[in-house]
Amino acid sequence: MKRRCVHLLCGVFAAFALAFAAHAGADQTMMTTDSQTARVVLPAPDTTGTRTVESVIASRRSRREFTGEPVSTATAGQLLWSAQGITGAGMLRAAPSAGATYPLETYLVAGAVEGLAPGLYRYLPQGHRLELVKAGDLRREIAAAALSQQWIADAPVIVAISAVYERTAARYGRQRATRYVDMEAGHAAQNLYLQAEALGLGTCSVGAFDDSRVRTVLGLPPQETPLLLLPVGKTP
Ligand SMILES: Cc1cc2nc3c(=O)[nH]c(=O)nc-3n(C[C@H](O)[C@H](O)[C@H](O)COP(=O)(O)O)c2cc1C
Repeated sequence: MKRRCVHLLCGVFAAFALAFAAHAGADQTMMTTDSQTARVVLPAPDTTGTRTVESVIASRRSRREFTGEPVSTATAGQLLWSAQGITGAGMLRAAPSAGATYPLETYLVAGAVEGLAPGLYRYLPQGHRLELVKAGDLRREIAAAALSQQWIADAPVIVAISAVYERTAARYGRQRATRYVDMEAGHAAQNLYLQAEALGLGTCSVGAFDDSRVRTVLGLPPQETPLLLLPVGKTP
């Protein structure tokens, strides 16, 4: 009973925090809430960008300096979509997945996003939505967990990719799944690198972190393993 009340209170608090942020920032973000979670329906992804894939491959670099400028909710959504968004019938996604088992989970650590309260959000590919996991700006905690790579905290957003290996292991066995899932994280990250570049932003894969600290900051369940962090922002 006590636990239910706490859940309910958290849900109400989250809904208010998100509603306030959405009101404060004029974006096309739509708010939907239920009793336990606050969800954000992201603006539809744009598939009409004018940069060619060749030009973004040619200019892609790992970028570790950010101006601190906020990004829009649409931009944050676009980045998440490029990594794991739904792009085809049968829920097929932007990045390939062994047997379409989709072991990856994608999180948005929002620090400076117009129209979105700072917090940790889980990306829900179905419906292109965000679900609030934890309110508050977690960027410094993430940077500290990433062996104190302080530049990470300067990015307006950090995309975190984790994996549930069991989803793929159930079909291919543990050994093969380890290989496949790690490859998938690379596919998703490369999409995000190229999408960032096409939007005039920069990112850098961060694999050097303390697993258990990142796990704690992101509040990951035991079956999820953190694999990559991708801070993204406008570069000088
Ligand atoms: C799996 C992986 C993990 C990485 N981890 C880090 C990291 O923790 N910190 C960092 O500054 N760069 C990291 N990088 C970025 C590499 O240093 C970078 O890709 C390399 O220097 C080549 O530069 P480029 O990406 O600009 O071509 C990582 C790259 C990969 C692929």
